[in-house]
Amino acid sequence: NKMPTPYDVIGEKTLSHLVDAFYERVGNHPELAPIFPDDLTETARKQKQFLTQYLGGPSIYTEEHGHPMLRARHLPFPITERRAKAWLSCMSEAMDEVELDDSIREGLFSRLALTAKHMINSEEN
Ligand code: HEM
Repeated sequence: NKMPTPYDVIGEKTLSHLVDAFYERVGNHPELAPIFPDDLTETARKQKQFLTQYLGGPSIYTEEHGHPMLRARHLPFPITERRAKAWLSCMSEAMDEVELDDSIREGLFSRLALTAKHMINSEEN
């Protein structure tokens, strides 16, 4: 009789759809595409695992890859404030596409905005 988690509310299918819609945009974004691999299949697979546990679902990212240490894992990539904003705009559009329920959208987006800000590791050039 546990409270439903955000993962329960969103559901595996919608989460998967959200991540696919997100990377579709990332792969076409002029500021983001250059720092991502050409083939985003594996990136999307890891992001589905990560967001599952971030939203309170099973810890499937950590089981396969260890502690997320997200900031450290992003250090090889120059993440500027502009790129963080671009990442969040791709996510917002993906949320529109999958019609993410308003009851979950605002809370998830504001958490992601904090995480994105934490990933910034480079000045604009
Ligand atoms: C991986 C960029 C924010 C979660 C990556 C990769 C890049 C990247 C280039 C490597 C992709 C690959 O090699 O497959 C960015 C940029 C961000 C950002 C520009 C803007 C702020 C975030 C946020 C989250 C996140 C907010 C969490 C919600 C992840 C995860 C991975 C990843 C889970 C896979 C890590 C792994 O290799 O296991 N990101 N990211 N990222 N990112 Fe981000």
